[in-house]
Amino acid sequence: MQLQLCSWPEVERYLEKSTTIMVPIGSAEQHGPIGLIGTDAICPEVVARGVAEQTVTLVAPTLSLGMAQHHLAFPGSIALRPSTLMALINDVVRSLLRHGFDRIYFLNGHGGNIATVTAAFSEIWADASFAGESRPAPRLRLYNWWSGERVRGLSRELFGGAEGSHATPSEVSLSYYAYPQAVKQAPLSPKVAPVGAIRDAADYRRQFADGRIGSDPSLASVEHGERLYHAAVADVGEDLRRFGSTD
Ligand code: NI
Repeated sequence: MQLQLCSWPEVERYLEKSTTIMVPIGSAEQHGPIGLIGTDAICPEVVARGVAEQTVTLVAPTLSLGMAQHHLAFPGSIALRPSTLMALINDVVRSLLRHGFDRIYFLNGHGGNIATVTAAFSEIWADASFAGESRPAPRLRLYNWWSGERVRGLSRELFGGAEGSHATPSEVSLSYYAYPQAVKQAPLSPKVAPVGAIRDAADYRRQFADGRIGSDPSLASVEHGERLYHAAVADVGEDLRRFGSTD
């Protein structure tokens, strides 16, 4: 069920049976010469909708902007600074808590969001601790769509050492599966991009001229994306069931 397609009485009825909701979170940032700007939002969104169908879980609208300052030297990237993203997470969580959702599962598509979203959770829990609240604190979880065993195993099998860490053939494949009309081709040189640490946007572009890190997304395809989609839906579905049933 998509929250965007529900009426408020439907949400009220859902809350009588479940207080779990999924929130896909991504980023709008360059993904190399053939990856889509929306890759990191598209991937968790499509996986969350697949999981929602199987588990009858509500999915909130995708938070499609993230902490992406290091991509700003490439046209099309839009970034929230960490403090803005933390404020966004806080307002989203408090809105949902007010309705009675107390298990909020953020399905993430962007590694750059992890530190900030985790810090935002700590702020929310700190507020409860300082206030001396005796009610159970909200259950908040951040899970990356690519981090389950099935997806990691399949990525290794399909792409080996060409997976890399940005504009990966796995995420590009999954986004192509979601939007086959947007499949792109361009020459990539070197075939596998370099690796290294990153600081700000100018440093990133100096080190990684076409935007990729350690990856060869020319290996991406709609067919691989379909397999990764089913692996991710299984991984996330399993993790979500655990999250929904633990105290
Ligand atoms: Ni990405």
